[in-house]
Amino acid sequence: MDWERIDRHAKQWTEEAGNRIRSSFDKTLNVQTKSNPNDLVTNMDKEIEQFFITQIKKTYPDHQILGEEGYGDEIKEQKGIVWMLDPIDGTMNFIHQQRNFAISLGVYEDGIGKIGYVYDVVHNELYHAIKGKGAFLNGKRLPMLKEAKMEEAIIALNATWVVENKRIDHNLMIPLVRDARGTRSYGTAALELIYVATGRVDAYISLRLAPWDYAGGALIVEELGGVVTNLRGGKLDFLSKDSVFAAKPGLHETILKKYLKDGKW
Ligand code: IPD
Ligand code: CA
Ligand code: CA
Repeated sequence: MDWERIDRHAKQWTEEAGNRIRSSFDKTLNVQTKSNPNDLVTNMDKEIEQFFITQIKKTYPDHQILGEEGYGDEIKEQKGIVWMLDPIDGTMNFIHQQRNFAISLGVYEDGIGKIGYVYDVVHNELYHAIKGKGAFLNGKRLPMLKEAKMEEAIIALNATWVVENKRIDHNLMIPLVRDARGTRSYGTAALELIYVATGRVDAYISLRLAPWDYAGGALIVEELGGVVTNLRGGKLDFLSKDSVFAAKPGLHETILKKYLKDGKW
């Protein structure tokens, strides 16, 4: 498999998609809702997904695509090469703030991450990783992550999980929030994983994400020595929705053992 060629294309298409998003800023967005009034999608989410799919299918007809907006393939098993794409992660931010969103792309072979891209379009920060070769920001190698202590840790999580909700006993989150140095909530899983990778936060927790949300970012975190699992400490299968817990080495184990062990995640 010519992974260098695939990587060149992944980079080229991600940059081109970023340019398209940037030039949409002074145009009127068409905003629609999906599963509920706060689940938003725009014409740009759809256009960017279709752009990637056209390029991928033309260049690599035997590859499959799992895209959030549903223009790709239905993936039932992890076989062959699958491109996992979230054309805009953080759509609510994209609409309301025109910042704090990213393009997220992971290329997987038989369920193993090979290439990950997360593009913070507004800051022109292109993060990428190639399995076994490290992770980079705009082509510059990123340093490996160091261990962190709970009392000095900033944890990214969504306030949904700290108030009463249908998925978990929110009381289990209280000690975690209390003992950390601080918490943050950015509303974009892909960038929150990048913030773990770059040490801007020390851990990120979400109770429910889809593979396209984390396929790109997870590989980047892991290439830098961070740990990414579900909240049960198990491997993510990149097929179904699951909880996601990414953290610096050491801190991952501490949080799992001390704070998350009683949850039915
Ligand atoms: C969402 C964001 C958000 C996370 C949600 C995702 P979207 O993605 O990553 O931070 O909490 O679970 O669905 O819908 O903006 O692509
Ligand atoms: Ca997303
Ligand atoms: Ca999205």
